[in-house]
Amino acid sequence: MFSNTRVLSKVLISAAFLLCERGVAATKFELPDAFEGKWRGIPAWNILGPWSVNLTFDISKAENGDYLFENNLGYEGLSDDTMGWQRFYVEGSGETSGVLWYCGWLRNFLRDGGAGLAGYARLEEFVLYDAPKPNASSVTWCLNDQTNNRSKGGPWPLNNEPKCTGCDCFNWTISLLGPNELQSTLLMAGSPGHAKSKHLDVKLARVGPAPSVKIQMPGHGANFTCDFLDRDAHPIDYNRTTHSKRRSICPFKYEPNASPLPAHTSTFKNCYWLNRKVQYRLEWDVDEQNSLLHVSMSADTSAGGYVAVGFRPLGAVKGLPEMPVDLQTGAEQEFGMKGADIVLGYQGGVKNYFAYHFTGPPDEDWSLNITNASTAYENGRLTVNFTRPLVGGKLAASGVSAEYVNLLSDNGDVIWATGEMGGDNPSYHFQKRGFRFVDWKKPAPEMTPFKCQASSINEQKLEIQ
Ligand SMILES: *[C@@H]1O[C@H](CO)[C@@H](O)[C@H](O)[C@H]1NC(C)=O
Ligand SMILES: *[C@@H]1O[C@H](CO)[C@@H](O)[C@H](O)[C@H]1NC(C)=O
Ligand SMILES: *[C@@H]1O[C@H](CO)[C@@H](O)[C@H](O)[C@H]1NC(C)=O
Ligand SMILES: *[C@@H]1O[C@H](CO)[C@@H](O)[C@H](O)[C@H]1NC(C)=O
Ligand SMILES: *[C@@H]1O[C@H](CO)[C@@H](O)[C@H](O)[C@H]1NC(C)=O
Ligand SMILES: *[C@@H]1O[C@H](CO)[C@@H](O)[C@H](O)[C@H]1NC(C)=O
Ligand SMILES: *[C@@H]1O[C@H](CO)[C@@H](O)[C@H](O)[C@H]1NC(C)=O
Ligand SMILES: *[C@@H]1O[C@H](CO)[C@@H](O)[C@H](O)[C@H]1NC(C)=O
Ligand SMILES: *[C@@H]1O[C@H](CO)[C@@H](O)[C@H](O)[C@H]1NC(C)=O
Repeated sequence: MFSNTRVLSKVLISAAFLLCERGVAATKFELPDAFEGKWRGIPAWNILGPWSVNLTFDISKAENGDYLFENNLGYEGLSDDTMGWQRFYVEGSGETSGVLWYCGWLRNFLRDGGAGLAGYARLEEFVLYDAPKPNASSVTWCLNDQTNNRSKGGPWPLNNEPKCTGCDCFNWTISLLGPNELQSTLLMAGSPGHAKSKHLDVKLARVGPAPSVKIQMPGHGANFTCDFLDRDAHPIDYNRTTHSKRRSICPFKYEPNASPLPAHTSTFKNCYWLNRKVQYRLEWDVDEQNSLLHVSMSADTSAGGYVAVGFRPLGAVKGLPEMPVDLQTGAEQEFGMKGADIVLGYQGGVKNYFAYHFTGPPDEDWSLNITNASTAYENGRLTVNFTRPLVGGKLAASGVSAEYVNLLSDNGDVIWATGEMGGDNPSYHFQKRGFRFVDWKKPAPEMTPFKCQASSINEQKLEIQ
């Protein structure tokens, strides 16, 4: 099945040695040569929602024996460095060999306490999982939950109830399925009734040799640092043809392999596609005078399907106001559901839920004063309209100050999903969900690339200035 067993066992034996001898100065961490290469595939699962385009991932060995993994983030047809890039450094030698450091940079898409436009950077430390089989063709790292906890702002729910510990919080496995096929799976802790959640799951095909490492590799252990001023402040330099500004601000128009989105002229002031694959569209008007938000959400579904949006008033906040523990929500819940007032519509009507957990089914809860609700199903597409107050929902009803939970406070984020109803309640949405930061009054520039039916490039240019 696998042709490189000799190299593989040599390498994983040295990894095992490192782990068995913990406390003693370790020697080496080595990956089988077959892992090295340029890999490409469309994620089957990812935390932002279904992808339509390829993810390219490089695994290279540096001259000092360390490894460099790199990829750009080109979610949903954004040109490949618009949203961000990721570098992972694996120590090949020394006392902390096997440790994997993450230096990621995101911009224009995710917001971290308001830093959105400029982008923000994150350092995380992963330790090698300590029981690789000598003959295994896979390697697993686990988030170091001692250095990556809530005080660092998440997004991992390490302090969730129930608390996760060790490898259960977040782990990453890279497996060779064959000489030219690689599986990369990142799992996160679950919640009651939902054993785990996924961060990314992608099968990648080898598309080329490993690019040579041109950067100066960073120090090990305590000497390691992300260099967000220089080394880690730049996209990964693939031979990109998608470099132009025009292209990056109008991705759907230029992405050759992406399926076209239907034309849509909205009667709402704001209209954005949150996801191409399920054609999830969010439209809204802010009525400040009456403190209301008028919303229309729609997606391709079956006749028995639902479309839902979750408003998480504190989803972008670090350092929370006092509130009951079962309501706590903040940046560390970023990729999950906890703290969301969910409005769900199906042909049978509109319902309100609150999510008490990171994953798993939300509870029916009518804290949000939904008015004006209507649904329509036409040509395989479900549309749900409703109005909600700018200040409202479970947190407001539980006494959390309006200053925090007001949608216009810019503390919040949005989750969305579409799936099948199971009677009067939603069934599991599987991969058909995602999240976004939405500035309801000023959605540009973060949402600019996803604007419905942009009439011209010039109009979009104006938008981002
Ligand atoms: C993804 O990459 C593969 C391999 O390079 C290519 O054959 C395929 O057309 C790409 N798919 C898309 C949607 O870009
Ligand atoms: C790996 O080793 C284990 C235990 O020695 C054995 O059960 C398993 O069949 C081996 N797998 C492969 C792919 O050789
Ligand atoms: C987070 O980790 C730091 C050490 O990096 C520790 O001092 C702090 O107590 C931890 N906080 C929590 C809430 O576990
Ligand atoms: C990875 O995390 C998931 C979710 O908590 C868990 O089910 C799984 O056992 C973990 N894997 C390892 C190798 O610890
Ligand atoms: C960190 O750098 C110093 C100075 O170069 C060196 O003496 C030390 O051994 C390094 N520590 C590690 C863990 O590499
Ligand atoms: C980039 O393009 C050049 C010229 O076509 C080619 O020689 C080189 O291998 C390419 N690099 C990568 C990483 O694909
Ligand atoms: C719900 O909203 C409507 C319309 O804005 C308003 O008339 C009504 O008083 C609200 N009800 C509650 C319980 O807030
Ligand atoms: C219902 O929606 C309309 C149009 O979006 C809006 O003008 C009106 O204020 C809403 N009424 C309530 C009670 O929410
Ligand atoms: C939602 O509102 C828009 C704009 O008022 C309207 O065109 C559409 O028919 C409405 N859809 C439903 C299901 O009420």
